[in-house]
Amino acid sequence: MKTERTLAIIKPDAVQAGHIGHILTRIEQAPLRIVAMRLVRLDRESAANFYREHAGRCFFNDLCQYMSSGPVVVILLEGEGAIARWREMIGPTDAAAAPPGTIRGDFGESVQNNAVHGSDIAEHARFEINF
Ligand code: CMP
Repeated sequence: MKTERTLAIIKPDAVQAGHIGHILTRIEQAPLRIVAMRLVRLDRESAANFYREHAGRCFFNDLCQYMSSGPVVVILLEGEGAIARWREMIGPTDAAAAPPGTIRGDFGESVQNNAVHGSDIAEHARFEINF
């Protein structure tokens, strides 16, 4: 399988709830390599730019508000098939419907407050890593 890079974000709800360590442990056990990592506070404009593919969706304003509501941990991950592997580990978008054992199932709350982000395809991973 191909070595890839992908972007993970531990979102404000999971940071606030004290789940950074639990989520990093899942990454290390995957195993995925942490190439770079930073705790940042996105402003609303940066959040809107990051999620610009969703501009116009009914949840867009709330999403930008949520993503700029507190610090997030931005992580550059690398590993074999890292994009699909990380997406599989985090589970479906709606944390309320995500199975136990997935990161969103174990640490997320709802379709918006879903604990983590993961790039869905290689093209988006490139944009998000550069961002
Ligand atoms: P993420 O995988 O980071 O990509 C887009 C984000 O928008 C998603 O996680 C959720 O946080 C949010 N989101 C997606 N769909 C909805 C929805 N139907 N209602 C509210 N928020 C959503």
